[in-house]
Amino acid sequence: MEYSADILGYEEQVSIRLRTLYSEFGYVQYKMSRFEEYELYAGNKAFLPPGEILTFAGAGGRLMALRPDVTLSIVKYTKDDNDLKKLYYNENIYRSDGFEIKEQMQVGLECIGNIDVSLMGEVLLLAKRSLDTISGCTSLDISHMGYLSGLLIGENMNTQQKTKLINCISEKNNPGLRALCYEYRLSNDFCERLIKLSAIYGPFKEVAGELQNLSINKETDAAIQELDKIHDTLCQLGIRDGVNIDFSVVNDISYYSGIIFQGYIKGIPAKVLSGGRYDELLNKFGKKCGAIGFAVYLDMLENPDAAETNKCTEANTETKNDKSPEKDTGFEVKREAGMINIALPKGRLGENAYDIFESSGFGCPEIREESRKLVFENKKDGVRYFWVKPSDVARYVERGAADIGVAGKDVLLEGSPDVYELLDLGIGRCSLCVAAEMGFDTENSDKALRVATKFPNIARSYYRKQGREIDVIELNGSIELAPLLGLSDVIVDIVETGRTLQENKMEPIEPIVDISARLISNKASYKFNHKKIETLCAKIAENLSKINETNKME
Ligand code: PRP
Repeated sequence: MEYSADILGYEEQVSIRLRTLYSEFGYVQYKMSRFEEYELYAGNKAFLPPGEILTFAGAGGRLMALRPDVTLSIVKYTKDDNDLKKLYYNENIYRSDGFEIKEQMQVGLECIGNIDVSLMGEVLLLAKRSLDTISGCTSLDISHMGYLSGLLIGENMNTQQKTKLINCISEKNNPGLRALCYEYRLSNDFCERLIKLSAIYGPFKEVAGELQNLSINKETDAAIQELDKIHDTLCQLGIRDGVNIDFSVVNDISYYSGIIFQGYIKGIPAKVLSGGRYDELLNKFGKKCGAIGFAVYLDMLENPDAAETNKCTEANTETKNDKSPEKDTGFEVKREAGMINIALPKGRLGENAYDIFESSGFGCPEIREESRKLVFENKKDGVRYFWVKPSDVARYVERGAADIGVAGKDVLLEGSPDVYELLDLGIGRCSLCVAAEMGFDTENSDKALRVATKFPNIARSYYRKQGREIDVIELNGSIELAPLLGLSDVIVDIVETGRTLQENKMEPIEPIVDISARLISNKASYKFNHKKIETLCAKIAENLSKINETNKME
C-alpha cells in the first residue's frame, strides 16, 4: 500500500528527517522504557531540566518515576568499555510544572567513549544541520564550561555562590553580577572580566581576541584552544555561518566540563536544541569515558510556516506593511521584520522609561498624543512600542511577542522569566520589604506567620532561607489592608516613599531587596537582532550616564 508523507504531522516529519540524518552518520537508535526508579533522578536533580518529577509506586513498593530526561537512562545502561557508542533516540519525556503534566517529544543523540575534537566537531555539525533541517535562519551558540570554571579558580566562593554568579552570566545581567561581586567581596578586576565575558556574542574568529584578553590561566587558555580547534573542524566540514560564541549559554558546573551549546531558530522565542559535553555525569556513575550529546525539543516547533520561511537575509528586513498597510493586524505587527518590538509597562514607570528611550534617539511622537491606541511605531528608527500591564511585560518578552521590554526587578524576581536582563534603567527605585503594624513582634507567635503579598514566590523564598514556616495569602492590591483587618500578620510589599505605610500606622520591619526597572530582552530576539539591540542598549547606557552626571552636578 502506498502512502504519502503528508499524513504525518509536522513533528513527525521533522523527527524522521533528523533520525535519517543521524543514521547517515552511523548513529543507531536507542529504545528505552518510559519509567525508571526515582532514585536515578533524585541523585542527579541538577542535571535535569526544571519541573517536578512524576512518581508512582511500582512493584514491591519501589518508588518509580516517569522519565523526565533521556540521557540519564542511556548513561546508566551504557557499558564502560573502550567501544565508541553513537546513539540516537526519539522519546517522550514527562514533567509537571506544579499544575499540569507535560509530555514533550525529543529527538537527540549521544556519543559516548573517547571524545576527541573531530567527534565534538561531528556532534556540533549534526546539531547545526538539525536546526537547518527545520529553518533557513538558525543560530548554534557555543560556550565552554572549562573557560568559566577556569575563571572561577582561586576565587573564594562556595558552590551556591558560584551558581548565583553563573545564573547572572546566563541572564547577561551586569547589575546582578556587580551586586554579587560586591556581596562576595570579589575584586573589581574579576567582576569586570565576568561582565565582559557575559557580553561576548559572535563568530569565534571575531571574539577570540577578547577571550584571549580575558584569559587568566592554563584552564582558560586550554578552553580557547579547544574552541579554536572545533572552529577549524566545523569550517572543514563546511559550517561557516550561524555558529556563535555566547557565554550566557551555561549549564550545571558539576556535570558539564567542556563545550556546551544551544540552538535557536528565527521566529521561535526560546531555544529548540540544547547539549554539551557531560563527562562529569559519566564520572558520577563511576564510568571513565567521556560523552557529548544534544536534544531537539520538537514541541517547540509549533509554528512551521514562520520558521521555515525565515531566511537570514536582508530581504527579510523589508516590511510587509510597507506594501499592504491595510493588513496591519496583530499578527502582522508581531511578525513584521526589521522592527524592534518594545513592551512598556502602562503607567508612570512606562512613561519614565519611554522618556529614556526618546532622549536616547528612539522617539515615537505619536505615543504622547491623547488616544486609546496600544501600539505606536517609528519606522525610520525601527522601533515599535506597546503599552502592557506592568506585571505582563516579562511574559510578552519571554514568549517573543516583544523583543525587549521594561520590567521592575520585583516582577522578574517573582516570575523568573527566561530572558536577558541587559540594563538597570535606574528608574522606579523602591524596595521590597516585610512590613507590619507599628510595634508588631514577628517572633511573638509559634504559629505559621501569615504573610499577605502580591509576591508569593519572593515571600516563600525569603522565609525558606530563614527556616520560617509561613502561610501565604496572595492578594492583588491594597496589601496594607491585610494586617489592619486581621487577614495577615505581616505583608511583603513594595515601599517607595513609605507614605502608604505611614498613613496606615505601619512600618517596614525587614528589607528584602532593592528594586528598579530593568531593560530585558527575549533570548532568541537578542541573537537574531544582535546588532540592533546592542546599539539600542549602548545608546541608552550612554544617555543614562549623561543623565546621572547632570543629576550629580545639580
Ligand atoms: C504600591 C505598593 C504600596 C505602595 C507603596 O501600590 O503595593 O501599596 O505602592 O508606595 P509608597 O511607599 O510610595 O506609599 P500600588 O500603587 O502599585 O497599588 P496597589 O495597592 O494596587 O498594588
